[in-house]
Amino acid sequence: MKKATAVAHSNIALIKYWGKQDEGLRLPMNASVAIGLEEALTTTTVEFDEKLDKDEVSIIGDEFNEMETAKVSQHLDRVRALAGIKTRARVVSQNNFPKAAGMASSASGFAALTVAAAGATELNLNEKELSILARQGSGSASRSVPGGVSVWYTGETSEESYAEPITFPANWKLKVLMVMAEGTGAKKVGSTEGMALSKKNCPYYSTAVSEAGNNLERLKEAMGKGDWSGFGKVIEDECFRLHAVCMTTTPNILYFKGVTVEVFQTLYKLREKGIEAFFTVDAGPHVHVIVKDENVGEVKQALSELSGVKTIIETGIGGAARLIEQHLF
Ligand code: DP6
Repeated sequence: MKKATAVAHSNIALIKYWGKQDEGLRLPMNASVAIGLEEALTTTTVEFDEKLDKDEVSIIGDEFNEMETAKVSQHLDRVRALAGIKTRARVVSQNNFPKAAGMASSASGFAALTVAAAGATELNLNEKELSILARQGSGSASRSVPGGVSVWYTGETSEESYAEPITFPANWKLKVLMVMAEGTGAKKVGSTEGMALSKKNCPYYSTAVSEAGNNLERLKEAMGKGDWSGFGKVIEDECFRLHAVCMTTTPNILYFKGVTVEVFQTLYKLREKGIEAFFTVDAGPHVHVIVKDENVGEVKQALSELSGVKTIIETGIGGAARLIEQHLF
């Protein structure tokens, strides 16, 4: 069987996914929207080998715990079922950003694994089918398959729940600043666990889910009109919607650190000077700032003065997950 290698970009959600209507199939409670991150990449090589009696999974420069290895194996089982094989696989993966610290490595990780495993088994899946498959490994991975700016539909069946590109103003030249907070290891409450707790124990959960639907409509309207301020207002509302749900979950889930809030305040100050850059935060302390090209220098400068900021990675919008020729082994 062939060896195949794929790369996929991580993504940052503008409209957030936080909860499943179907745990097994990973059908989300609400539709979500994300931007692919050009500089945040996972590369994964998969080779099915008759000589193996179990899957061999490793990550260069990092470690997979038992649960993560099991999730990769389970995902390979989905691919094996589609391909009608039982052969075990060797999987080597590499991220160019920290795993499990809120930078959504599971999104690029499961997208790259899906595309590489489908390539190695010569399944010939189209982008929609790859997105459906990636979603079952990790929900946000569905959006890393098309990349770009994409919407992931809720769906009532597995076949209806996939991501595809969403119309985005072609004249918006923007960057995303990945503002990494100092001193963070693996996040304490992972997304899968956190969203299950919120669905069960947050008293505002159902209101928050319907608000996500309203915010998606507002986002589409702002993008349709090319309304940058309106776009920014929605993504910041969405950031607070997610974190309000997390904070009011039992037990309380607090992903923000002091510096997370300091970044917000710095952006508010810049806004008084007419510089409109917007923040959003996933399940960790790091902030993603969406900024027009012409303001990158000034925003980066202001944020780098905060002592709790470790690094700022400037990135463009990442493309679709794809096969490449350079294998990791
Ligand atoms: C806060 O996709 O990691 O980043 O489907 O359980 O693997 P699972 O969850 P995951 O959750 C991502 C949550 C989020 C918001 C988002 O990306 O929409």
